[in-house]
Parts: sequence; structure tokens; C-alpha cells
Amino acid sequence: MSESMSREMSEALPDRSAIAIVPATFASFLTEPAPRAIGGVGLGVWLVDTDVIVEEELEIGRSWLDDAERKQASAYVRAELRRAYEIAHAAARLVVGAAISVPPEKVVWGRHACPGCGEPHGRPRAEGADVEFSLSHTPGQVLVAIADVPLGVDVERHPDDPVGLSGLLHPRETAEIEAAAHGTLDGGRATVRFTRAWSRTEAYLKGLGIGLGRDPHLDYLGTDEAPGRTLDGWVLTDVVVPEGYGAALAVRG
Ligand SMILES: CC(C)(COP(=O)(O)OP(=O)(O)OC[C@H]1O[C@@H](n2cnc3c(N)ncnc32)[C@H](O)[C@@H]1OP(=O)(O)O)[C@@H](O)C(=O)NCCC(=O)NCCS
Repeated sequence: MSESMSREMSEALPDRSAIAIVPATFASFLTEPAPRAIGGVGLGVWLVDTDVIVEEELEIGRSWLDDAERKQASAYVRAELRRAYEIAHAAARLVVGAAISVPPEKVVWGRHACPGCGEPHGRPRAEGADVEFSLSHTPGQVLVAIADVPLGVDVERHPDDPVGLSGLLHPRETAEIEAAAHGTLDGGRATVRFTRAWSRTEAYLKGLGIGLGRDPHLDYLGTDEAPGRTLDGWVLTDVVVPEGYGAALAVRG
């Protein structure tokens, strides 16, 4: 086989990092092997449809949460937001606990220092663990990832008014979304383009640990259907999610 043929074939293979494990029960998080990809970095990505977690299952997950998580969960007025929060935190406890051989209810959460101000509200961390992880929850979907390098994930529902929100993004991204809305740019509807750019930006800012403490106008991550993108040593990959959502993963290379 010629070198160019083999290169074409490897480009045709799906990027495993972009396809999350989709567990249906908490136990199935641990039975499916996590995908490992991105330049030799150990990585696991799990996407949970919150509707598939049955009440008995969720009750088990809830029993793992600490007092602060229960308080935060009860602060959500909308049931779908509370449910997504509880599933995200139970899932994170399960995968982080498994990585450090600790039962999910024994994981003790903390936060890394924020790179903006040094206060402990940066990326989440687990006491005694040298693994990095990130979680995101939105009505209907939860995304959790774990790696041996810093990372960030974000899952978002498509907005009703992508053009109205596009001004929050980098000016070139705003222009691309407006052009798509006016029919002068092919390659994705305005709402899909907005969700791509926003989830890439949030994943990147969560990976950095500063979150929206860094102005989302500053970083261009694009609205096009790029399979992957790099920015300042970070690898950005779109995660395959159901219609109506967008999601991204940022991993420090
Ligand atoms: C991080 C942030 C972007 C999350 O936004 P979101 O879309 O509402 O929520 P998501 O579901 O995608 O992610 C939430 C998770 O992100 C994580 N997270 C929170 N702050 C984070 C940070 N600075 N870096 C990385 N991850 C962070 C937490 O695990 C959080 O989970 P929890 O709220 O259930 O405990 C947003 O909360 C934020 O920017 N916070 C910091 C704002 C700020 O100004 N900080 C001051 C800097 S000096």
C-alpha cells in the first residue's frame, strides 16, 4: 500500500475522541472501555442522555452526592436542570472514583486555583487524584471527560436566537453566524454554527480553568464543521451529540 493511500485511509477513520461512550446505566460507565486518543493522551469521554437514566438508577447516583452537591441540586427550580446536575455529578464521581480506586461516594471535590485571580474556583479536582476531568450539564444531556492532562468539555442546546447571541463570540464568528442566517454562507445553519463556536469556546475556557472570566470575544474557534482545531497548544474537537445539541472537548496537547 502506498504512503498516500494509507494516509487517506487513516483520515477516513472516525476520530475516536469525537465519539463519546453513551452509557444507559451508571454501571455501564465502567463496563465500556473508554476511548483513548489525541496524541497518546489517555482520555475517556461519556455522553449521557438524561432521559435514559431511570428513577431507581438516579436514586443510587443521588446517594453518592455530598451536602454541597445536594444543596446545589435543590437550588435548581426546573426539574430538568436539577436532574442533569445530579446525573453529571454522579457520573463524575463514578469515573473519577474508578480512576483512583475510590467508591463514588468517597470522592472529595476541590477546585484548582483560577489562573485569573489565584482563588480556588478554577477547574474541578478530586482530593488525592492526579487525574483531570471536566463536566457539563444542560437539559437532556450530560458530558463528562477524564484525562491525564488538563481538559474542558461543554454541551449546549441549540438557542432560539443564534444571531442575537452571536455578539457574545469572537467578531469573525459573529460575522459567520450572521452570514449563515442571511443565506450568504453555506456549511451549516446559524444555530448550528452558534452552538459549535460557543461549545468550543466554553470547553477551551474550562480547560484553561478561567471559564467566562476570560472574554469569549478574544479567541477564534470558528463556526465551520472543522473536525479539529488547535489553539495555543490546545486541541479542540467537536463531540458527536444528538440533533439539537452541540458539544466540544478541549485537551491540552
Ligand atoms: C465554567 C462556566 C463556563 C460553566 O458554565 P455553564 O455553561 O453554566 O455550565 P456547564 O454545565 O457547562 O459546566 C459546569 C461545570 O463547569 C465546572 N467549572 C466551573 N468553573 C470552572 C472553571 N473556572 N474552570 C473549569 N471548569 C469549571 C464545574 O465542574 C461546573 O459544574 P457544577 O456547576 O455542576 O459544579 C461558568 O460557570 C463560568 O465561567 N464560571 C466562572 C466565571 C468567572 O467569572 N470566574 C471568575 C474568574 S476570576
